[in-house]
Amino acid sequence: TGTPASLLTIFGATGDLARRMLLPSLHGLERDGLLPSTLRVLGTARSALDTDGFRALVAEAIEEQVPASDRDPDALAALLQRIQYQPAALDDAASLASLCDTISRLRDGGDAVFHLSTAPRWYAPVCDALAAHGVAGPGTRVMLEKPLGHDLASATAINDGVARVFDEDRVFRVDHYLGKEGVQNLLALRFGNALFEPLWNARHVEQVQITVAETVGVEGRGDYYDESGASRDMLQNHLLQLLCLVAIEPPSQFEPTAVRNEKIKVLRSLRPIGREEVAAETVIGQYTAGAVGGLAVPGYLDELGRGSATATFVALRAQVDNWRWKGVPFYLRTGKRMPQRCTEIYLQFRAVPHSIFDHGGAPLQPNALVIRLQPEERIELRMMHKTPGLDRNGLQLSQVALDLDMQEQFASHRRRLAYERLYLDAIEGNGTLFVRRDETEAAWQWIDAIHEGWRQAGITPRPYPAGTWGPSRAVTLAERHGHAWRE
Ligand code: BG6
Repeated sequence: TGTPASLLTIFGATGDLARRMLLPSLHGLERDGLLPSTLRVLGTARSALDTDGFRALVAEAIEEQVPASDRDPDALAALLQRIQYQPAALDDAASLASLCDTISRLRDGGDAVFHLSTAPRWYAPVCDALAAHGVAGPGTRVMLEKPLGHDLASATAINDGVARVFDEDRVFRVDHYLGKEGVQNLLALRFGNALFEPLWNARHVEQVQITVAETVGVEGRGDYYDESGASRDMLQNHLLQLLCLVAIEPPSQFEPTAVRNEKIKVLRSLRPIGREEVAAETVIGQYTAGAVGGLAVPGYLDELGRGSATATFVALRAQVDNWRWKGVPFYLRTGKRMPQRCTEIYLQFRAVPHSIFDHGGAPLQPNALVIRLQPEERIELRMMHKTPGLDRNGLQLSQVALDLDMQEQFASHRRRLAYERLYLDAIEGNGTLFVRRDETEAAWQWIDAIHEGWRQAGITPRPYPAGTWGPSRAVTLAERHGHAWRE
């Protein structure tokens, strides 16, 4: 925590993330009057632009990325006024020194946030340079983008490098899923209502599914993606964070230490999946040519332009070994080139112990809670209901949904980008929605064992045609335990 920052420095300010997410988010915050009046924004990257050139680029990004109905010329003008740019080559001591001069001048004694949106190999050297030039002292915070390492060893090395300069409470590791409204709503749903919590455990929950399906392929990020694959790119971070929020015990307060203390307990309760378990508990796949939304798309290897054994799909059955969740499978899956974009959490409750209805043999459907995060936000509670009408054969029941559509419910609210929340919190020094070092390392430890298991067991991705839900083995993974993935 600290006082609101007076300077936000974005490293990698001309990059893809900045253009698509960071700059539009700043525009959104500006528009809603949420940026501290004294905040300055300094962009830096290798490109030899001047401030005017960068401002033009910002204006262009906002024009391109922000829907017209959300764009505000006054906000844009105000934002541009805050923004400056200075080029810097991160491997060049002189240009870093001069950048740090500018930083200390613009900061003017206030708090400062450094957002490192560069390749992670620069994190430690940049932190060192900031320290060497005296701009990383108290009142400064650093925001780190993923990938935070490739495995536990490399993540530890990055974290150690950053920790030489910034104490842990000044390190803000981004998992942009935590900035999503629907993800925070999961906590609101669980801990703002008395209704769900008594049922939220192994006695009443039959299974949990977490799906993050994307229709896109690797979108020109092949070099990064091929090093990572679905398990490092999505599972280690976004899916495990979602799992944590579904599984945690109620924190005593909504504040950084209390929330993150509960998440780390979940991560440490994950049953290891290793050499002996990978074949039964995990499935990996790689997409081949196919069609998504009626459009023909090439296979992963064609997009990449070379051979590769990187998985673009992963599904697995995780288990949380604690009192609350013992025996409840958490099925996780994520993939590129799935039939539809869909991020959702599905909790299926246990069946009624005994059915008093005889309706032609069709079994009662178990209750389920579906929390849909993308593309739209909605919550559905599925329950059995009497089918209206007079029926000679006794009551007929069908499953209906109590359906809460956020768009309808909160029609006057603009849908925000995840980085609006994250920037606001980083500027204000609130780390609740950022990932603590022990979390990211525990997640890597669990993922490392799976990778090692795949390696030892010689498991390689099975092909699946683009536009399908992954290799058919994924279906069997759930079926073996009497469960079926939601389509
Ligand atoms: C990123 C991954 O972290 O998340 C991408 O690197 C992925 O591969 C993206 O496409 C998905 O984010 P969202 O917000 O579109 O669900």
